[in-house]
Amino acid sequence: MYFLVFDVLIMNKFLIHKLITLLKIINSIYYQIKIQLIFFLFYKKKNYINIFTQELSKNGYVKLKNIIPRDVIDKLLLNYRNQILSETNNLKNGYLIDISLKYNDVKDFFQYFEKNKIFNVCKEYLGNFEILNCKINHQTEKDFDTSSMQPHHDTRGNDLKIYVWMSDYNEKSHPLYYLKGSHNNWKFYITENHHRRKDILKEKMDKVYGDKGDLILFDTHGWHSHIKKNTVERTVLELTIIPNNYFFCSEATGQSSFNQI
Ligand SMILES: [Fe+2]
Repeated sequence: MYFLVFDVLIMNKFLIHKLITLLKIINSIYYQIKIQLIFFLFYKKKNYINIFTQELSKNGYVKLKNIIPRDVIDKLLLNYRNQILSETNNLKNGYLIDISLKYNDVKDFFQYFEKNKIFNVCKEYLGNFEILNCKINHQTEKDFDTSSMQPHHDTRGNDLKIYVWMSDYNEKSHPLYYLKGSHNNWKFYITENHHRRKDILKEKMDKVYGDKGDLILFDTHGWHSHIKKNTVERTVLELTIIPNNYFFCSEATGQSSFNQI
């Protein structure tokens, strides 16, 4: 009798666990359909006015040359050079130094974003938007082949990343790998393997390099990134730009937005 009760309890616990997992999957699929459908129905346009938005919409990325002057970049790098060096020397695992920035650190950059109408492109593509974060992203020379160094999408639906290249052009630096046009495909994912695709060949992806001051804007819903091997160090300023509408904003995801004040 005792064993029978024990078995029933174990069985119930097992079933409840399965049920919770199933509900989580349904909830996740619902969210994925919702964000992709909303973008497709309300924000995706056939004709964009700005030629850079047109290119972004067609390919999933657009590269703009000479957006930020070198002296503006050098000033920011000078402020963080010691921190980057020290963190690089103490890096045990991984390949990446990430330094979150405040608006005051990058307000000069923002002036050039405004001047070059970068945010107009973001607005035309996403509608109202907000900046989720702004950081220095410094890749060391170390090889890396897991996590975000595998082809993946960022699982937030269509949103944007800005990379401002802060290093000089070097063909041995790790470029942005991007599968052209893949931001237009519907994507559903339950396990990590669904949004990390080791099977996409490097040769199939575009290699987007930058020179100091260039800016790359890309839709993170497209397949991007690839294995990092035999590369030299590279620094970019990275901004994550997300929609801000009734259905999607940083608050709804429990994240706080980059404070521009
Ligand atoms: Fe990513």
